[in-house]
Formats: sequence, structure tokens, C-alpha cells
Amino acid sequence: MNIRLSPRERLIVALDVPGAEPAHALVARLAGRVGMFKVGHQLFTAAGPDLVRELTGAGHGVFLDLKYHDIPNTVEHAVAAAATLGCRLVNVHALGGRAMMAGAAKACAGSGAKLLAVTVLTSHDAASLREIGLPMAIPEAVRHLARLAQDAGADGVVASPEEIALIRAECGPAFLIVTPGIRLASSSRDDQARVATPAAALRAGADYLVVGRPITAGADPAAAADAIAAELERA
Ligand code: C5P
Repeated sequence: MNIRLSPRERLIVALDVPGAEPAHALVARLAGRVGMFKVGHQLFTAAGPDLVRELTGAGHGVFLDLKYHDIPNTVEHAVAAAATLGCRLVNVHALGGRAMMAGAAKACAGSGAKLLAVTVLTSHDAASLREIGLPMAIPEAVRHLARLAQDAGADGVVASPEEIALIRAECGPAFLIVTPGIRLASSSRDDQARVATPAAALRAGADYLVVGRPITAGADPAAAADAIAAELERA
């Protein structure tokens, strides 16, 4: 872990809600309690760049999680557009290759946005990777793609809790690791297969933790965020 942040600043809340209104309601309850808000495909498709501008314009940190994967020219221009929205983090698929990631990194340069790469989606297992023609074991594929992402100019990766240590060893202390799949020991796993508690993910070397349902699905999101921040303080 390379960056000096308070535990709360390391928390990124996934705004996986169907529109601007519930997104604003969650942000109002969580502002000041967490470090950033993540806007993914569902919310961006429903509410668009205007919502992102509203959030960044109000001073909230935004991770735009659109996982771009297209030809290098298209991705470079998409990332440049994302950077003009004032996002702090944007991401691409490392499987898009070196030239695509280098174009994205160029588009981020000087903008205040940092570029993350997704290595292997956490929904994959060894069998589904083989099915799409990638015979590597998952840890080997993750290590390979993280190295490629770093060489191409990415600032970090999105990685499951299980992969934090191997990426840290491969890519060094300055490479950002952003980790979803966070669950409190007492909470449901939902559809996440590879999970860790907030404290375990932090100890393994994550810089930021992405937390969705454990904070947003309960009756009191602010109390849930505070409980996770307290666990991180003790980690
Ligand atoms: O609700 P939950 O805590 O599972 O939400 C995790 C968030 O992180 C979701 O927005 C999901 O899309 C995202 N994510 C993930 N695994 C990845 C990349 C992103 O769960 N590999």
C-alpha cells in the first residue's frame, strides 16, 4: 500500500442504483463518511455524464467504472472524455492490450484521473477462461496482465482480495490496487465468490476497497460505512 490515506478515504461506495434520484439520496447519507463513489454501467446508462458532473462538481470523488475495451483510438478518446468529467479513477480491460492501455494512460496524463486496468474479471473461473481460449491459471493470468498494464502506463489495477499479494509482489508498492468483493464477517456474500473482510483486504495491501451492498443494501448505510471504517482503523 503506497498512499497515505485515512481508512475512510480508502472506502469507495458502489452506487449500483437505477437512477440519479436514489444515487443522490445515498450520496447525501454517505458524504464525508467515505472517500469516493463508484458509478458503474447501470447508473451511467440510466443517468449519464450529467450525474457524474453533478457529483464531481459538488466535490465528491468519483470512480467511473466503465471498463473500456475497444480499439486504442476509441478508448483513448473515451478516457479523455471521462477525464473531463472530473473523475479521479477510470478503468479499462487489460485484455484490450498494450496499445489500448497506453492510449488510455496518455488521455489521463495531466488530468487528475488515474487509470486502472481490470485483469481477469472476478466472475471467471479456470474453466470459463479455458472456454474463451485462455489456458492460463487465474493467478498466472492476473500476474501477467498486471505487469502488462503497468508497462503500458496504467496507475493500478482492480483486483479480487485473493490477488492483492501477488500483484503487490509483481508490481511494487506504488502501483494502485483497488479491491471489490469486500464483506463483513457477519454479512451475506451475495453473488461474490472471492471475498475478504475490510481489514484482511487492507492488511493484504489494497489501497482502496470498493464496497456496495454491505453499505447500500441495509437500512442505515451511514452506520454500515462507519462500522467498516472502524474495522479499518483497527486493521
Ligand atoms: O455489492 P458489492 O459490494 O458486491 O459491489 C461490488 C462492486 O464492485 C460492484 O459495483 C461490482 O460491479 C464491482 N466489481 C466487482 N468485481 C470486479 C470489478 C468490479 O465486484 N472485478
